[in-house]
Amino acid sequence: METVYKKVFVTTAIDYANATIHIGHAYEKVLADAIARYYRAKKGENNVYFTTGTDEHGITNQQAAEKRGITPQEHVQDISSQDQAEIDSLNVSYTRFFRTTSEDHKHKAQEFFTKSMENGDIYKSAYKGLYCEGCEAYKTLSELTEDCKCPLHPTRQIQEYEEENYFFKWSKYEGFLKELIETNQLQILPGGRKKEMLAFIENGIQDIPISRPTYKLSWGIPVPNDPEQVIYVWFDALINYVTSGEANGFWDDDTYIIHFVGKDIARWHTLLWPTMLKSAGYRLPNTVYVHGFINLEGQKISKSRGNVIRPSELVEKYGTDAVRYYFLKHGPITEDVDISIKHFEEVYNADLANGLGNTTARLAKLAEKAKLSLDISPKFTLEIKDFRVDLAINELQQKLTELDKHINENTPWAIEDETKLKEVLTTEITQLVNIAENLKPFIPETVTKVQTTFLEGPIKAPEPLFPRIS
Ligand code: ME8
Ligand code: MG
Repeated sequence: METVYKKVFVTTAIDYANATIHIGHAYEKVLADAIARYYRAKKGENNVYFTTGTDEHGITNQQAAEKRGITPQEHVQDISSQDQAEIDSLNVSYTRFFRTTSEDHKHKAQEFFTKSMENGDIYKSAYKGLYCEGCEAYKTLSELTEDCKCPLHPTRQIQEYEEENYFFKWSKYEGFLKELIETNQLQILPGGRKKEMLAFIENGIQDIPISRPTYKLSWGIPVPNDPEQVIYVWFDALINYVTSGEANGFWDDDTYIIHFVGKDIARWHTLLWPTMLKSAGYRLPNTVYVHGFINLEGQKISKSRGNVIRPSELVEKYGTDAVRYYFLKHGPITEDVDISIKHFEEVYNADLANGLGNTTARLAKLAEKAKLSLDISPKFTLEIKDFRVDLAINELQQKLTELDKHINENTPWAIEDETKLKEVLTTEITQLVNIAENLKPFIPETVTKVQTTFLEGPIKAPEPLFPRIS
């Protein structure tokens, strides 16, 4: 479907600035980055816009600042720049690192709220309900465990909120949503997630509060014309996509819009967000891609378990592309996955040190000895279907294995005839640089090294691309 569009807008969720991100959050950024790079190669650099960033308002950010004894502004500034550094360590090529505290966003969120209000979709009313601050969402008893805890945030106390709020007429859009999703006008991938979302609609959509009184929560964007209320964090955060897309000409009908999100927030993106857009008079996104969760050695990654790994820690030890490769090939693209350092090192040695690294070294040494020089331009022919980067990488890995087999069978090191040797090496190196070219969205720095080795000046064996880990 995306082939008919001139431009593409790729987004990730924006991370809560209550604590620095870990490898779970980072997985999503690398996934979206691979897709953004893929489309740049297909549609041209300037036809792709890609945003990621931080979600800085709301109760958890306010509480985290209180705990540190600093202002919310100071706190979110600090976490946001740490998050950005983490994401940078993975070479994520965002066009804008979005912060919900930026001026243009505050303005856009208020304008959006006003438009929806003018359309008759916002009203004020009293409300009483159970609230999970970790999810920033109201919960029904049936969504909680027997001891009244949120299954996603078991260390947090469920709150009882009783207050006056502005409400969004979500229920009005039930029929609209059902049709939107059933007909794939909003595509939800993978297919299993679409069924889950349709099941939520079957359970009934109810109006939801979209503001909080300032005596309960001060850290938010003020409701237009009502300084005693701030806009509810989801009705602020989701709008980031429009703020950055619209300002850069990527929220129009020539743009294919895709959101990458984790399974815990699929509901907000597939059920609430489209109705907000419809209400305020904006076009809708094309696709929401829902990934699973990374668990670490069988455990949920969490501060209270003390098993948090930062992306930069892995990058420092193994290099950016090794981490990207592992995430993209073995990450939770459909379902949750369990990862471990042991598995990571096994994959590193098998696919990168012995695979791509070793093949590159072998061919470069042979070409150097044969004084070969090449004049070829590699071709980008990659097709990623349904955003399955893992399958695309598997196919390329398969091609590398075949190339290795070709080298072993043709034993170029034993060929004495110079013409014949050059011919065999040229065939094999052409294959290698083409495979590499197609790996560009996934491991861009390594690809540049491979291309430089073979295509620029006299061929010389490079430093090992991926030194073996013993
Ligand atoms: O939900 N594995 O922020 P967040 C994979 N601010 N993905 C994970 C993960 C894990 N272990 N842990 C978290 C929010 N994520 C909101 C989003 S968007 C308008 C607002 C993913 O910091 C999670 O699923 O709790 C989500 O997509 C993203 O990280 C940010 O989570
Ligand atoms: Mg979360």
